[in-house]
Amino acid sequence: MKRELNITINGQPYNLFVSTHRTLLEVIRDDLDLTGTKVGCEMGECGACTVIMDGRTVNSCLVLAHEAEGCEVQTIEDLTEDGKLHPIQESFVEHGAIQCGFCTSGMIMSTKGLLEKNPNPGEDEIRSEMRGNLCRCTGYVKIVEAIEAVRDGGDK
Ligand code: FES
Ligand code: FES
Repeated sequence: MKRELNITINGQPYNLFVSTHRTLLEVIRDDLDLTGTKVGCEMGECGACTVIMDGRTVNSCLVLAHEAEGCEVQTIEDLTEDGKLHPIQESFVEHGAIQCGFCTSGMIMSTKGLLEKNPNPGEDEIRSEMRGNLCRCTGYVKIVEAIEAVRDGGDK
């Protein structure tokens, strides 16, 4: 069964007609072609699909699209401005915190959510907050260093 869905994504309001069983992740990627948000486990385990919904990070594979009715959603595509990377993205590049890149969108959105909640997290808090985002490649040390550098630079 399809129903009307009103949702704002990256500042753009959308009026869609969406089946009630579909996830926010599916709508973002398949209907709106915002493929920066990745599909991993589709079970809430890997964090590859992380987006910010009304100010908090969520696994978009676990959110039914209609649960996001009236919400503001931000995806990785919204972070780049006029072709310039966001400071979190720059820091991940500078610190070698990206290898295959599959986890990176989710990592960066979770970092953004963390730093908006607490601009000055310690290493333990960073590791704790990022535990829902899995990376097969980097061993996490460089990711933590990249986040600490953004924190210390005062940029979010
Ligand atoms: S794809 Fe959503 S948590 Fe893995
Ligand atoms: S960089 Fe490959 S999964 Fe994280």
